[in-house]
Amino acid sequence: MRQPRDILVTSALPYANGPIHIGHLVEYIQTDIWARFQKMRGERCWYVCADDAHGTPIMLKARQEGITPEALIARVAEEHRADFDGFRVGFDNYHSTHSDENRHYASLIYARNRDAGHIAKRTIEQAYDPVEQMFLPDRFIKGECPKCGAADQYGDNCEACGASYSPAELKNPRSAVSGAVPEQRTSEHYFFRLADFEPMLKAWTRGGGLQGQVANKLDEWFDAGLQEWDISRDAPYFGFEIPDHPGKFFYVWLDAPIGYMASFQNLCDSPKGQAARLEFDRFWAPESTAEVYHVIGKDIIYFHALFWPAMLHGAGFRTPTAVFAHGFLTVDGQKMSKSRGTFIKARTYLDHLNPEYLRYYFAAKLGAGVDDIDLSLDDFQARVNSDLVGKVVNIASRTAGFISKRFDGRLAAGLPDQALFERFTAANAVIAEAFEAREYSRAVREIMTLADRANQYIDEQAPWVVAKQDGREAELQGICTQGLNLFRLLIGWLKPILPGTAEAAEQFLRIEPLSWDQLAQPLLDHEIAKFKPLMTRIESTQIAAMLEASKEDLSASAG
Ligand code: MSP
Ligand code: ZN
Repeated sequence: MRQPRDILVTSALPYANGPIHIGHLVEYIQTDIWARFQKMRGERCWYVCADDAHGTPIMLKARQEGITPEALIARVAEEHRADFDGFRVGFDNYHSTHSDENRHYASLIYARNRDAGHIAKRTIEQAYDPVEQMFLPDRFIKGECPKCGAADQYGDNCEACGASYSPAELKNPRSAVSGAVPEQRTSEHYFFRLADFEPMLKAWTRGGGLQGQVANKLDEWFDAGLQEWDISRDAPYFGFEIPDHPGKFFYVWLDAPIGYMASFQNLCDSPKGQAARLEFDRFWAPESTAEVYHVIGKDIIYFHALFWPAMLHGAGFRTPTAVFAHGFLTVDGQKMSKSRGTFIKARTYLDHLNPEYLRYYFAAKLGAGVDDIDLSLDDFQARVNSDLVGKVVNIASRTAGFISKRFDGRLAAGLPDQALFERFTAANAVIAEAFEAREYSRAVREIMTLADRANQYIDEQAPWVVAKQDGREAELQGICTQGLNLFRLLIGWLKPILPGTAEAAEQFLRIEPLSWDQLAQPLLDHEIAKFKPLMTRIESTQIAAMLEASKEDLSASAG
């Protein structure tokens, strides 16, 4: 028998200072589909994530609310978990970067890189808020744009004219925290010498673990030259103190990816991990044969495809097998917007709509590239109603009633059209390949073509006509058994995308959780439960109400 693969897959760690929104969900749903697919195939696949709990914005947000950062991140962690549960994102573990495991691995990775000579120390000049007595990140300095003069622009780029610049170039700069005029002050910082890793990174880039577009981007960065990376921040800061330098902290992006390891370690130590005899080293040692994948948005490629593999390599750990980057979500062709009500929080969506709809829609649109994906609300409604309600679920509702009413819920002992069933199971391989390659839109297209074929079979056989004719009992039972077996295959293939609907279908069919291997075996001479509608149509009023509530969210937070 084939040995199952050992797979660790992660999604980027959401910041612990804000709610999950439907843009984030592109990533968590995409990763969840892949992890569920691997598990369904019998691979030993683990999906871990965590909250990204450190950094200046989180510190300041807690201060604003008059609570400790620890209290803030605890509250947000609860909200994030509830949102992910609501969308059936099935993490094997959800942890926090503000954890003992993360402190341990961050300190270890830092110390090993330092001892190997990859950390430099230099004094730099930086904006300082004399009132708050803190150094100011670029995003916390505001002033007039040096290019176009627009007021109230951030220290890194201008939203009016799009120019980017350094905060020192801003005219009339002010601290966004206190309003004070920033001073320039010096302080000693630690730098990670990324250029030490150039040969290793070039080899890794060409090793097949990156999408073409991402590898090209990296080549541009190599050409521009790899710069030293500032990995330290001065107090006050919410993060981990650098072990050999009290008062200095690791920059949030130093310990954030290490949070993947920390969450995995936490899983290994949990009852679930112990039961599976999960071992940290089997996944992270340099000679590991396990596969490690990071799913990320295109905005954080630099961190995951340069800093992260370099830090790991410098500390004697294995590098990721691959990094999968995706594009950004737009709604009706535009950036999510609070005023249009398209900045939709996960919670607001769940208050109005079934999570399976969005999972399906994203799957139907996602490929393996880094292109942006658009949620067109009209198309969303039309597609879900026609594909899921009109095609897939309809097959069961057109056939199940006869089985319950006329055959005591019992399926026939044989299939009248074995060839058609086999034409369906022959698609197992191409659908699996599409999922494996993260070409979900291709998988969905294959599945929906077969759903059309199944409906065509029922149209042709017209069980409602057969049911009215005497002496055609066996034929009727056969047609409905055939239809339900085709339905079972469609649901099996859709299970990574629609875990909730699949579970309800498994209960309706009274079967064990579907795995990929069993799909080719038809379900015969078997008693099923009474059919209950598995999914209802999306009504326009639900979408309108969700948009309205998203606008209300805005006024609530502004007021
Ligand atoms: N905390 C960092 C990641 C650290 S990983 C070691 C971060 N957090 S985030 O909350 O801003 O974003 C989390 C993930 O969601 C990122 O991969 C980001 O690209 C993705 N998305 C955030 N907004 C998105 C869209 N509008 N569309 C698609 N993905 C988006 O970055
Ligand atoms: Zn400007």
